[in-house]
Order: sequence, then structure tokens, then C-alpha cells
Amino acid sequence: MNILVIGSGGREHALVWKISQSPLASEIFVAPGNGGMEELARCVSLNSSDHDAVVDFCRQHNIGLVVVGPEAPLVDGLVDRLDKENITAFGPSAYAAQLEGSKGFTKDICAKYDIPTAAYGRFDDAAKAKDFVNKKGTPIVIKADGLAAGKGVIIAENSEQAHAAIDDILGGQFGAAGAELVVEEFLVGEEASFFALCDGDKILPLATAQDHKQVGEGDTGPNTGGMGAYSPAPVMTDHMIQRTIDEIILPTVRGMKQEGHPFKGVFFAGLMITDKGPELIEYNVRFGDPECQVLMMRMKSDIVPALIACAKGGVDQVEMDWHDSPALAVVMAAEGYPGSYEKNSEIRNLEQAAQDEQCYIFHAGTKKEDGKIRAIGGRVLNITATGDSVKSAQKRAYAAVDQIDWSAGFCRRDIGWRAVSREEN
Ligand code: AMP
Ligand code: GLY
Repeated sequence: MNILVIGSGGREHALVWKISQSPLASEIFVAPGNGGMEELARCVSLNSSDHDAVVDFCRQHNIGLVVVGPEAPLVDGLVDRLDKENITAFGPSAYAAQLEGSKGFTKDICAKYDIPTAAYGRFDDAAKAKDFVNKKGTPIVIKADGLAAGKGVIIAENSEQAHAAIDDILGGQFGAAGAELVVEEFLVGEEASFFALCDGDKILPLATAQDHKQVGEGDTGPNTGGMGAYSPAPVMTDHMIQRTIDEIILPTVRGMKQEGHPFKGVFFAGLMITDKGPELIEYNVRFGDPECQVLMMRMKSDIVPALIACAKGGVDQVEMDWHDSPALAVVMAAEGYPGSYEKNSEIRNLEQAAQDEQCYIFHAGTKKEDGKIRAIGGRVLNITATGDSVKSAQKRAYAAVDQIDWSAGFCRRDIGWRAVSREEN
């Protein structure tokens, strides 16, 4: 079967890498792809917001499965259109993608179906939002309702900060994504992510991960798309996973079905493990980046039947085995990220760095030009390794990082610190 993957990040490189190992895959296309994928797939320039063009491409190339990597095309209804054309696609409908696209929508689903999450209010009026803050006290969390590239969440330590955040969001700082906001209680605990595939009715639990959102060592500084991740997340014991499935994922599956919009695709649940148990911070409706990279390194089974089953049903019948070894990914980013950064610097020595069989370098913001790899984005490389422990995976990943010759790039040197310190104690 010919397969089309939509996206250009490290997540899509990892998906393409995993799909390319499937006996079911014939030709793999990726739109637009990046500088690291050409040995695995044909990179094509295809605008995923031009649904007619995507449909034409699928017909011309006899595509049997479209895998949508990022959230924007999902929220934009690409899968709805492909469904109408009878082209099998992995990912939720635009309606179901509101679980990521609208924080208020998700909070209302949680309230209606009794899913544990922080107490909240939804507002489009600044005075009412500020009243709510004054009643609840601080710290408190203010969130733009819509997609804001991970930047729309403000943790306010005091009411001045909370009021300023409300004014900024409703004042247009995030454009249409901030026409409405959610104010919610501040949860205390350890964060973890849980992934499960869903065909609208049944689920296939995948695995857990933890990421490092902040740019600086010790988890400090501004938030980014993610500077590294590892899987599994030690805080997610079997008991905690079962509670997450029973208390959060399955009620969401039943709720979305009851709403008349069953969810098909991957649930990426961002959780706070509080002293009461797991609470939902947010849903994403696509794989995480860089969480996907560590998940794909650990996945033993073929991913293609699982992706198809999300669209066609029977996901609970799909066999899914995992390598026990942890995996860890270190993100190398362009100096200046998440602020402004230079483009077009050359990256050398990638082949030597990737010699270790238990290490793989997934590209993100790169392009290949005249045989040279150049950085063209903020997050640029994902150095991903497995090991007998998080510590050994970490050692392997940094050994590869140290061989890469890229003076305009940087990475955090402490990815996995929480899991490593648990292993040492
Ligand atoms: P989100 O984009 O909703 O995942 O939020 C980004 C980050 O903000 C999360 O990963 C948490 O670290 C933090 N956060 C969001 N909501 C809360 C909350 N209710 N309590 C504590 N921290 C939160
Ligand atoms: N790494 C977080 C995300 O993909 O949203």
C-alpha cells in the first residue's frame, strides 16, 4: 500500500521511519518532509490546507492511507474531507479535534462526563474572568481557548499577573485563538503523558512519556515545543495507567460517541499525577513531538495495522508489543530558539554521530541541499537512543550529540534528569 504522511517535524520523521519497516508499506510519500527523510520516503511539496490538492495527490498515487502528523490540518477538517472521498486517513474529524483545538470544549466534555480535571470557568469578558480569579485566589492558570503553539498558557502567581494575562489574551495577543479563555485551578503534582489509539469505540493503549517543555536546564526559562522526552514515564505505574484509562480515556471515548462525534486517532493525554490520582491537563489529538520519537523507538510491532484500525475499527484486536528498554530523545535547536534564530547554518558529521545501532537521529527543521544538511527551523534534530536504563539511553544520546558539528545549535544537557535521579535512588 502507498502511504502519505503529512508534516515536516521530528514526529513525522519518526512515523515515516517506523512505517517504512512495515511489510504493508510500498511507496511512502511525505508532504513536505525534511532534510533527513529522503532515504525512507519521497518528499513532495503539497499544501495540506488545499484539500482538493491532497485528494488529487492521493488519487494519482494510489494512496491507501494518509497519516496526518500535526494538529492544524486535523482542526482544519482534512480527515473529514478524505473520509468523504473514501480515502483512509489516520486522525480525528474536525469536530473531535476540538479536544485539542478548544480548551473550553474539552473542559465542558470533562464536566459533562465526570472526567477528573482542574475546576474552571470559560470567559469572553475580562471583568467576569477577573472576578472569577479574585474568588478562586492564586496561583491560577489562564489559557487562551484555541491553538497558540504551546504559548497560550500562563501560570499566574498573583492576581496582577492573572489580570494582565486576561487582558493580553482577550486583547488579541493570540488572535482568534484568544477570543475566549479558560481560567482554571492550579494543579500540584508530577506531569506525564499517556498515549492511546482509538477507533471511535475501542482503544489500544500505547505507552507513557515525559517531556521537557522549558528551554533551560533544570526546567527553567520560556516554554518551547519540547526540548527532549523519554519513555516510559516512571510515575506512570501500571495502577496509574489503569486509572487513567478507566477515569479519563474511556469516559472521553463514551462521551464523544454520545455527542455524535466518535473520536478516531490518537489520544495524547497531558496529565498531572496529583495526590488524588491522574487529572487531565489537556488533550492533544496527534502524537507528541518529541514524544513520538521515543514511542516509535520502543514500538516493536508494525504500526500500520494499528493506524488503519483507528480509521476502520477493531483497534482493540491489533497486536502491539513494546521493547522494555527506555528511549530518550535530546532536541538540538537553533541558538536563540524559542525566540528568533538564524537559518541556513550547516550541520556536519551526522553520519558518524549516528553509527551507534541503538541511536537514531530524527530530523525536524532541516533541508538537504547539494548533499549538505542545513538548519532551517527552531527545533532541528532529535537525537534519540535506547538503553537498559534511562541513564544509559541518555549517555548514548549525548555521546552522539557530542559528535555533531553544528556551532549554531544548542541542546539541554539534562534531558531525563527526573527519571535518572529516580534510578539512582
Ligand atoms: P497545556 O498547553 O494546557 O499543556 O499547558 C502547558 C503547561 O502548563 C502544562 O504542561 C503544565 O506544565 C502547565 N499547566 C497547564 N494547566 C495547569 C494546571 N491546571 N495546573 C498546573 N499546571 C498547569
Ligand atoms: N511535546 C509536546 C507536544 O507535542 O505538544
